[in-house]
Amino acid sequence: MSDIPNPNELASYWMPYTSNRAFRRRPRMISGAKGLYYIASDGRRLLDATSGLYCVNAGHGHPKIVEAIKSSAETLDYAPAFQFAHPKAFELAGRLALLALDDLNHVFFANSGSEAVDTAMKIALAYHRARGEGSRTRFIGRERGYHGVGFGGMSVGGIPGNRKAFGSQLPGVDHLKTTYNRDKQAFSKGEPDWGAELADELEGLIALHDASNIAAVIVEPVAGSTGCLPPPKGYLERLGAIARKHGVLLIFDEVITGFGRLGHAFAAQRYGVVPDMITFAKGLTNGAVPMSGVLLREGIHEALMVGPEVMPELFHGYTYSAHPLATAAALATLDVYRDEGLFERADEMEPGFADIMMGLKDAPNVVDIRPVGLICGIDLAPRSDGVALRGYEVMERAFHEHDLYVRVSGDTLVVAPPLVAEMSDIEEIADRLRQVLEKVA
Ligand SMILES: Cc1ncc(COP(=O)(O)O)c(C=O)c1O
Repeated sequence: MSDIPNPNELASYWMPYTSNRAFRRRPRMISGAKGLYYIASDGRRLLDATSGLYCVNAGHGHPKIVEAIKSSAETLDYAPAFQFAHPKAFELAGRLALLALDDLNHVFFANSGSEAVDTAMKIALAYHRARGEGSRTRFIGRERGYHGVGFGGMSVGGIPGNRKAFGSQLPGVDHLKTTYNRDKQAFSKGEPDWGAELADELEGLIALHDASNIAAVIVEPVAGSTGCLPPPKGYLERLGAIARKHGVLLIFDEVITGFGRLGHAFAAQRYGVVPDMITFAKGLTNGAVPMSGVLLREGIHEALMVGPEVMPELFHGYTYSAHPLATAAALATLDVYRDEGLFERADEMEPGFADIMMGLKDAPNVVDIRPVGLICGIDLAPRSDGVALRGYEVMERAFHEHDLYVRVSGDTLVVAPPLVAEMSDIEEIADRLRQVLEKVA
């Protein structure tokens, strides 16, 4: 007998970013996970094409991560995060600083990507103020960027649907143009050749407002949530150089791109650009316990380590910053990434992954495919009767009829398999996707 609850009993839980009424009519319930597979409530094994929400990089239920969480729950369930700490929090911060480039030596912990982004924005404001440049309060984001759902992240984010119901948001925010241009780059593998010059728009915004009023520019190195938009070759370097020239902090939001998705610990390494701060989450704990944080450069930390010694230097933090279970999960996850060589593995698999994804070019309604690292956006032409309807049907049919879980954003599918996937698993994902696309044609 199926253990799917009666749809009439599904009303209490208001699901996030979900079409709740459609879900209740035909639920997609997941009750287990192992390796590359989810287990649906009716017992079917579903291939996980998107690592949950881009977080389960080492595969589900990794025994070392499970063991670390269990043993932490037994020894230290919770430690106060304010004015007290537990040793593993320091160990984790040190490990992350070692993984990052240059002098990104300090870490502030939070629990979600949204909190990490708001933390980075607050640190940027506090940093400028501490140096006597308190007029630097403006932020620059980018169209099609996603930086979570806090008021800060939403304001710098560039997805219209995420903004329209929520009033005037943070004042003093501008958006760079998106780098995506289908006419110039359709079906490119990796970073498109065209578009580095789009970074020069930052120079124009700085001229408009004056550098003395701008705190930071925040971008995802590869925009993830709007369907995997790799940066044009040279774009991030150019953006970084302009920001540096004007004392504007550069924040890379690496919530998706961190921890191996692009074949490196951080995308900053792939692109050879050292940002002033990196926000990270998801893959840090392999998705097993919520945890996020901000890596920041020495100079920012140093500028804020001022004031009376018994006063907190930054009036900011979360009850669950560096939660012991999350810290244990993160340390075990970093061990797994290192011991199993998963970042290198992702790098080696990139060309094969790109070829397999590009093989879907002739599937019905596919209008662009954008693989980079082990993530790939596949745009479908919208149905004539409305945007996102085709995407929704693909997601539903994939789940119910083809035992495939894939993330869909509007009419864009995003494939981002766990980094432990074999080429044969990626071929299987592509086969199942093709079958679904043929059905919804
Ligand atoms: C780049 C980026 N920033 C921030 C977030 C927000 O993370 P969370 O949902 O954990 O708040 C996400 C989530 O997908 C993201 O992709």
